[in-house]
Parts: sequence; structure tokens; C-alpha cells
Amino acid sequence: MSKISLRNIVKKYPNAEHCSVSDFNLDIEEGEFIVLVGPSGCGKSTTLRMIAGLEDITSGEFILDGEVVNNVSSKDRDIAMVFQSYALYPHMSVRENVGYGLKLRNYPAETTKKQVDEISKDLFLTQYLERKPKELSGGQRQRVALGRAMVRTPKLYLMDEPLSNLDAKLRTTTRSEISRMHRAKGAITIYVTHDQVEAMTMADRIVLMSMGEVQQIGSPKELFTNPKNCFVATFMGMPSMNLIEGSYKAGNFSCDSFTIAVSDTDKKILDDAGYDGKSLFLGARSSAIRSGKKYEEAFPNSCFETTAMNVEYLGDSVNVFFNAEPNNLFVGTLGTGEREVEVDEKVTLVLDNTKLHFFDSETEESIKYTINQVK
Ligand SMILES: Nc1ncnc2c1ncn2[C@@H]1O[C@H](COP(=O)(O)OP(=O)(O)O)[C@@H](O)[C@H]1O
Ligand SMILES: [Mg+2]
Repeated sequence: MSKISLRNIVKKYPNAEHCSVSDFNLDIEEGEFIVLVGPSGCGKSTTLRMIAGLEDITSGEFILDGEVVNNVSSKDRDIAMVFQSYALYPHMSVRENVGYGLKLRNYPAETTKKQVDEISKDLFLTQYLERKPKELSGGQRQRVALGRAMVRTPKLYLMDEPLSNLDAKLRTTTRSEISRMHRAKGAITIYVTHDQVEAMTMADRIVLMSMGEVQQIGSPKELFTNPKNCFVATFMGMPSMNLIEGSYKAGNFSCDSFTIAVSDTDKKILDDAGYDGKSLFLGARSSAIRSGKKYEEAFPNSCFETTAMNVEYLGDSVNVFFNAEPNNLFVGTLGTGEREVEVDEKVTLVLDNTKLHFFDSETEESIKYTINQVK
């Protein structure tokens, strides 16, 4: 079983003005599934390629099992990789492609056959084993690339957006197949995606990046319930957290279209942190915005009337956009079970003030982050 430390890793490409990755620090425990997630261009692939040995590390240390391996060549790092561009061997059949890594390492033919059969079954490839890559769809090729990596048990699996060529249904099944295979193999997996759903569903720990910098590292639950800043708050979770610009005074938050009372706990936190009379962002997830008598009675001082601007029917749930200057509110699942909301209808919304987040309007850092962390 392996352990990894990435210490102060920096990548500056030759001639680039800015660093693509700046001061990346992470210790990975045996068997962990780490997901690097963030918007396109934030430095995920660059980080993964440095770990793979395909890109030089400008400064910092990559430590694998206690040894600095910055200068160890890619083929000597005992890693298996899957990339978005799957690069299969065109002249080989699916069976030969999947078994290639085992053949290179002189596995007996019988063992190779057995392992290739097993992994192909898991990845729904059994019926294509004798075909050549050009006779497969993009999604099937991507699964062959996955099979080729997962047939072995290396020290480390590295995957860069391996599901992006699959359709939505196959993405969901393959996602859970990768998680299952990871648990069975027990080797560290570092998985790159821009999709927060993949990050939430697959990761033991998520590393969320933006513009080359790590924003927050933690379990999916930690990032969802205690986001460190506005970026993390709005990136993780579907629907995205609503951020409303306003100000705080004497236990009340006010924006252009409403004033609500914050909870006693939040009042103390905001007062102690010196926010009385200051501007800040209120963060409310869809689940903290409700409507109906029950909620109005529970939170009588955090109700306000607004207008539904758009309604999206999704079957099990309904999304509603409300006017709430200076920002609009997006609420998923509001009104289902009780009644349907219509466009232009006036609705009394209730903020469940036990579930609110607050962010500094200048730094965009969460005001409750450290306090929640200690709990
Ligand atoms: N070979 C390269 N030379 C110069 N800049 C690069 C190179 N590869 C990537 N970059 C830049 O580094 C940044 C991070 O890229 P990348 O790691 O590919 O992002 P991601 O995988 O998160 O989309 C981007 O600004 C990108 O333009
Ligand atoms: Mg990338």
C-alpha cells in the first residue's frame, strides 16, 4: 500500500506569464480516492501530469512511499493512467488492448485471460473483445481505456476526465463501477473532473481548485456543509447556493428587497467578528428557502414576499426563480407536495435561518468556516 505527499508543488510552463499550479499541498493516505475538481483551465490536468511524470515539476516535492520521485521517469512510477484522449493501440483487438499491461509484465497467458475477462464483464465490454478500436463507439473506446488501466493493480491510478465521452446513463453506471473497482483494488486513485456531481459521488476527499490554487480540501460533506469561501459554496452542490449581497445590523440581514432576522447563534458570531453595520454576502441553499404556513410559523422573522419569475417542471421536482434584488433566488423543489407555483405569482418565502451562510463581501471568505470546523 502506498502513501503520497505533494509539497509546495508549483508549475510554470516555459514562456507562461502565470503559474498554472501554485503551491499545491496534499498528503494522500493509503487507498484514498481523491478527486481534483474545478472549472476548465484551473490546473487539474497539469497537476495530474506532474504526478504521472509527464510534466516537470517547476518547484516542490512529490514524495511516493517516503522517497522524492520528482526525477523518476513515468514508467518507473508504477502508475496506471486513463486520459480523456484514450490512445488505444489501433492494430490490437479490445482483448489485446486491455491485456497489454499484463503482457508487458510477463503475466502467464491464463492469468491474463482471466483478468481481462473479469474487467471486461464489469465494463460491459465482453461482446466486443475481438473487435478493433475503430469498430467501437467513443464510449466503448473510453471503457477499453479504463479496462486497460484497471486490469492491473499499480501503486497509483490516475484518471483525467475518463467519463467525459460517455452518455449520461453510461456515465452513472461506469462511475459506480470505478468506485467499486477502486474499493476492491485498494490503490490510491487520483481522479480529475470538472463535474461537481462526479466529485461529490466518488471522492473520499475533494480538492477544489480555481486558477491554479487550491480553494478547499475535504470530504464531500465538509465542502458542501462548510464551504470556505464563495467559490466553493457556489461550485459544490446542485442547485448552486444562492448568494445575496446585503448588509448586517443588530441581528438583521438586509438587501434591496427584504430584511430578515438571523439566528441567535449567527448573531453572536457576526457581532463577535465585527460585522455589525458591515456589508456581506448571505448564502442560502435551495433547501434553506421554503414556503408554506408551517415555515412561516417556525421562522416568523425571516419571511418576505417576492415574485416567481420562471418555473421549470422536472417531474419529481420543480425549479423556481424568484426576484430578490440585487440577486435572484434559485430554488429547487419548492412547492412540490403542497402546491405548484406559477410564473408572476407572489409567494411568501421563508429563510430557514438555522441553515444560512455568511461571507465577507471583500475577501469572499466564509465568516463561520473556522467556527464550524471546530465543532
Ligand atoms: N503545455 C502548456 N503550455 C503552456 N500552458 C499550458 C500548457 N498546458 C496547460 N497550460 C495552461 O495551464 C493552465 C491549466 O491548464 P490545465 O491543467 O490543462 O487545466 P484543466 O485540466 O484544469 O482544465 C491553463 O491556463 C492552460 O492554458
Ligand atoms: Mg484538463
